[in-house]
Amino acid sequence: MNYDIQKIRSWFPVLEQKIYNRPLIYLDSAASSQKPLQVLMKEDELYKSFYGNIHRAAHFMADKTTLEFEAVRTQVQKFINAKSRDEIIFTKGTTDSINLVAHSFGERYLNEDDEIIVSEMEHHSNIVPWQLIAGRKRAKIVKLPFTETGEIEFDVFQKLISPKTKLVAIAHVSNVLGTINKIEEIIKIAHKNNVPVLIDGAQAIQHIPINVQKLDVDFYAFSAHKMYGPNGVGILYGKEKWLNEMPPYQGGGEMISEVTFEKTTFNDIPYKFEAGTPNITSVISFGAAINVIEEIGLNKIAAWEQKIMHYTTIKLKEIPNLKIYGEASEKSGVISFNIDKIHPYDIGALLDKMGIAVRTGTHCASPVMQHFNIHGTVRVSFGMYTSIEDINSFIEALKKVVNMLKT
Ligand code: ALA
Repeated sequence: MNYDIQKIRSWFPVLEQKIYNRPLIYLDSAASSQKPLQVLMKEDELYKSFYGNIHRAAHFMADKTTLEFEAVRTQVQKFINAKSRDEIIFTKGTTDSINLVAHSFGERYLNEDDEIIVSEMEHHSNIVPWQLIAGRKRAKIVKLPFTETGEIEFDVFQKLISPKTKLVAIAHVSNVLGTINKIEEIIKIAHKNNVPVLIDGAQAIQHIPINVQKLDVDFYAFSAHKMYGPNGVGILYGKEKWLNEMPPYQGGGEMISEVTFEKTTFNDIPYKFEAGTPNITSVISFGAAINVIEEIGLNKIAAWEQKIMHYTTIKLKEIPNLKIYGEASEKSGVISFNIDKIHPYDIGALLDKMGIAVRTGTHCASPVMQHFNIHGTVRVSFGMYTSIEDINSFIEALKKVVNMLKT
């Protein structure tokens, strides 16, 4: 495969770091990816040469910043093939995007005894916002369970849908199990029952090409910081018809059309949902991250990461008493595991001392832990820059750690 891993790694200066005098092996990209020079340089250029506030002033700096900001909206629209740029809302992150939908969709459409179907493999960010609105509206959350391999069964899903169902919320890719949920089918089944679907795409958007029109998805939420972009920017894609009907989430500048003390009228979408000065620099440098992904090609990145994923799985399975959580037929991005009775935190802490960054704990997905009756796992996750050498060093270190910890 024509994939120049050395060139790609050269764009990420942080990967040249030594941690505790050992070369850094970064296997925590699902928590947040590292940032390439192209993104750092864009942010630097912006602050050094033309920064101003957007949509507000008539001077050169503000105009140029506004143009660049709005160009990224169009770039995101094209990246996910949305029908209109008005369907792209900038938020603080995936969590903020989901809270926006829970609040505004819930406010408009949810009534007492209505139901929201939420999968058991969700991150807390796709559970708690629904619990909050359900509590306010006296509605109910219905759990969509997963199987022992970490997959959703369509017949189970079909049985849970009823005339009371007002929305389905599910991750595209699980941040613990790595399952790629068959969201095309989920959306088709939901739509046959006139139920809209929100997809948490935080762990998918950097690994799988997304076409929101082909998926016919109602809402798709994701974050820039997991796709090599800066922190503090999320995207909410929403179908125009929903966004037009939903009330605003927050009040303030930019989301208004006219304000008097008696009454306020609201701006059109997307601005209706973008109260206050947004994270201007991060949105603009996020555009540079999308350019990097497109320059390599998301299909190529995905193929490389699949190779890394399969290699890591084979190597992990050679370690005695290691259990992998999540063995779906289609996985992406992450592998979670435990070894014997060793506490995941002990494994993570010792790996860290060898320069290897992994995540340990519940991964903000406690119901997944409850399903398996465990307190946590060790999780390794991959990015465009993960190399076979990274995995070999990690496996070697893990074997040493197991020897040190076994009783
Ligand atoms: N949601 C991020 C993760 O899974 C933070 O690590």
